[in-house]
Amino acid sequence: MPILTWPTKSLKVPASARLTTEAVIFPNGRGYPAESPKNHLFLGDNLSVMAVLLKQYEGCLDLIYADPPFFTNKHYPARIGRGEDSRHPEDWQLADGYADHWIDVDSYLDFLYPRLHLMYQLLAPHGTLYLHLDWHADAYARLILDELFGRERLLNEIIWTYHGPSPIRRAFNRKHDTILVYTKSSSYIFNVDAVREPYHPNTVKTFASSPKAGFGKIPNLKQGKVPEDWWYYPVVARLHNERTGYPTQKPEALLERVLLASSNAGGLVADFFCGSGTFPLVAARHGRHFLGCDATWRAIHTAHSRLLTEGQPFTIQRDLQSSIPTSTAPLSTSISGKTVTLKKHPALDSWEVDPAWDGKIFRSAGQAQRPNRSGEVPEKIKLPVAPEKLRIRAVTVNGEQIETG
Ligand SMILES: C[S@@+](CC[C@H](N)C(=O)[O-])C[C@H]1O[C@@H](n2cnc3c(N)ncnc32)[C@H](O)[C@@H]1O
Repeated sequence: MPILTWPTKSLKVPASARLTTEAVIFPNGRGYPAESPKNHLFLGDNLSVMAVLLKQYEGCLDLIYADPPFFTNKHYPARIGRGEDSRHPEDWQLADGYADHWIDVDSYLDFLYPRLHLMYQLLAPHGTLYLHLDWHADAYARLILDELFGRERLLNEIIWTYHGPSPIRRAFNRKHDTILVYTKSSSYIFNVDAVREPYHPNTVKTFASSPKAGFGKIPNLKQGKVPEDWWYYPVVARLHNERTGYPTQKPEALLERVLLASSNAGGLVADFFCGSGTFPLVAARHGRHFLGCDATWRAIHTAHSRLLTEGQPFTIQRDLQSSIPTSTAPLSTSISGKTVTLKKHPALDSWEVDPAWDGKIFRSAGQAQRPNRSGEVPEKIKLPVAPEKLRIRAVTVNGEQIETG
């Protein structure tokens, strides 16, 4: 079997992250105060985060979706404005997103290889990995995955196609990504009925008009067909409600198909390059427990905000190597019964309340966020209990955390 080698290839034992719990989030007070979440977001380099998680989760994960930087040698800013016209980039309000810069292909492979190895170790014997890349590096990754999983464990090479403008004039427009799917063993989860799709209307018409169509094999037209290994979903664009402004955000529908096919309700799934949190979001929506990790605070903040809609409690943990930008801007609040009111603060992206601050871990029992399209953050939060010792945490539009109380 061919093996990919490069001069710096190695699998050293990575240093483990030192994790501290930043917050426990009870969306709209759900589960507050007693529920112990089974869902976790981690801020930190996923190499050291996965290394520490091995102690608890080795051989435990049903499904991992991985959407790393693609080896594009670009920088991806995040859009933090609201209601801007997408056709006028000069007006966009931008902030740091994430970098995809490498000295050379060897340094990229030095990054990818140990992380894929850790993912392999974390997967359950029946587990599946979906690795999302494109033409920049998918060929190298496939050889690495052949080595780690065995080449017979390649379940699918999925092509995700989309369309959109491009400046390319001397080649065909590059409008697909490749998702490599490997299973850890020959016994794996594949819920075919959860991902069937309707037959094309022409197929339905053909079978309705001629009983001989299909050479006597009549498909179950009502049940729908097993999707092909090429998928069309539009990229997340300016008119989509799901858009967060975080760069290279993937469509929820794409990741829902991955999740529904390869995990069961109540299972444990993970995304260690979670960005805006699309995969944790669809996992929470469909009753799976999740682990999500990202190296940037903006990604974790965005994922945190998105997850509030699904109502599943989760923790936010931080590797002590990673820091959260802070601000000391003043916040002023008043309390009436179970309602806390914040004095108007136009620069806020979100704020939340711990009604019984213990001086150690922030337990968020109520949250308010800036609307997706336009407008300011709501000024009132209704709590599930009357506050005893109030602590407020807010995040500015620029991503700085403010804490008072
Ligand atoms: C392609 S984006 C993921 C987008 C995501 N699937 C979504 O829907 O928003 C890649 C992400 O990997 C993160 N990342 C890069 N290196 C990392 C590392 N060493 N540890 C954790 N996250 C990392 C980046 O910060 C970025 O958010």
